Amino acid sequence: MANLNPKHNTIVLLVIYFLFTFETTIASYDDDKTLNVIDFGAKPGSEIDSSEAFLAAWESACSTTTPSTIYVPQGRFLIGKVVFKGSYEYCKSNGITIKIDGALVAPSNYDDIGNDGNWLLFDDVNGVSIIGGVLDGQGNGLWECKRSGKRNCPMGATNLGFTNSKNIVINGVTSVNSQMYHIVIDRSTNVKVQAVRVSAAGNSPNTDGIHVQLSSFVTILASNIATGDDCISIGPGTTNLWIENIACGPGHGISVGSLGKEFEEAGVENVTVKTVTFTGTENGVRIKSWGRPSNGFARDILFQHATMVNVQNPIVIDQSYCPDEKGCPDQVSGVKIRNVMYEDIHGTSASEVAVRLNCSPRNPCNEITFQDVNLTYENNKQAQASCIHAQGITSGFVQPNGCF
Ligand SMILES: *[C@@H]1O[C@H](CO)[C@@H](O)[C@H](O)[C@H]1NC(C)=O
Ligand SMILES: *[C@@H]1O[C@H](CO)[C@@H](O)[C@H](O)[C@H]1NC(C)=O
Repeated sequence: MANLNPKHNTIVLLVIYFLFTFETTIASYDDDKTLNVIDFGAKPGSEIDSSEAFLAAWESACSTTTPSTIYVPQGRFLIGKVVFKGSYEYCKSNGITIKIDGALVAPSNYDDIGNDGNWLLFDDVNGVSIIGGVLDGQGNGLWECKRSGKRNCPMGATNLGFTNSKNIVINGVTSVNSQMYHIVIDRSTNVKVQAVRVSAAGNSPNTDGIHVQLSSFVTILASNIATGDDCISIGPGTTNLWIENIACGPGHGISVGSLGKEFEEAGVENVTVKTVTFTGTENGVRIKSWGRPSNGFARDILFQHATMVNVQNPIVIDQSYCPDEKGCPDQVSGVKIRNVMYEDIHGTSASEVAVRLNCSPRNPCNEITFQDVNLTYENNKQAQASCIHAQGITSGFVQPNGCF
């Protein structure tokens, strides 16, 4: 390539230039239309509320079956509680992309959205993608209220919620300082969460990174979650969930549960949690159920390739959850746990008991497998395992051992 003559170079450049212009010309006549929120009245700068402008852009995107992109340019846009409604009544489109270069900022007064449950909620939508951007819940004030033990603090709002929705993509989104949960996937199917960053203080209450419930075929990939509660929590009715390539910490780890709070409860089935690094977290991989009657269950769960770095409780099943010791008559969980595999789980525990399976005396855990588990306590000291009402097998090198 070094001796290409200048004439050739010019021709090559011209051809590239021509192709490029041709491409962009095509793109702008593409049937995908772009709606800039600025054109609907949104104003960056944190004083002017842009909620109405965002809703107007959504309505415009929804007015046609033609796919469209709602574009949010650089800048910080103050947004109040907003519900983006789908279903054919409100939205004809099954292809709306929200491309965000800037940040959406919640009101700094936590009372404004603190009792609404959700800040940005997508309800009954189909084919929505959110690409990029920052969602800033400004939760610090509310966390402080909760931590100070005041009684009249609102519950708080989830930064980003999807309910009753399908065919959703959340890609490259950064969620910071949510008042409560960061991202909630509820009653939805076929949801792909990728390259998401969650960031909230390690002592922020109930700020779970991603919570999934009553949903099927949710995939969470290549994400980095640092928060004050579970990095990912997996609630009742979650099936066919795939989690891979996650960095978790600080936080409470990845948790199936809490399950079995209700007597009639949908179970959790077919969950894969693969290639996760837990750093300084309270738990690593956990299954947790209330110590009370329930017909719930958790089965066919694989925890594979996990690295624990100074984790308080790397492997936990706790079936006697009962905060404040209230409403758990006999402390016995009805939730049935079966076929849980721990494969290639290694690293360091910050406490001596690295493996703790505390299963229900009425419904012992069944078909638990430990394969290639190597957890040490502090500087290569021997860690312990403590198991009750658990039945299973080990294979390969398993340390600490002694459960089965
Ligand atoms: C389990 O879920 C995955 C998606 O996470 C899916 O590909 C697989 O087919 C499911 N397995 C069964 C047995 O349903
Ligand atoms: C288990 O982990 C310790 C600490 O990292 C390491 O020294 C040891 O070689 C590992 N054992 C096996 C069998 O992998």
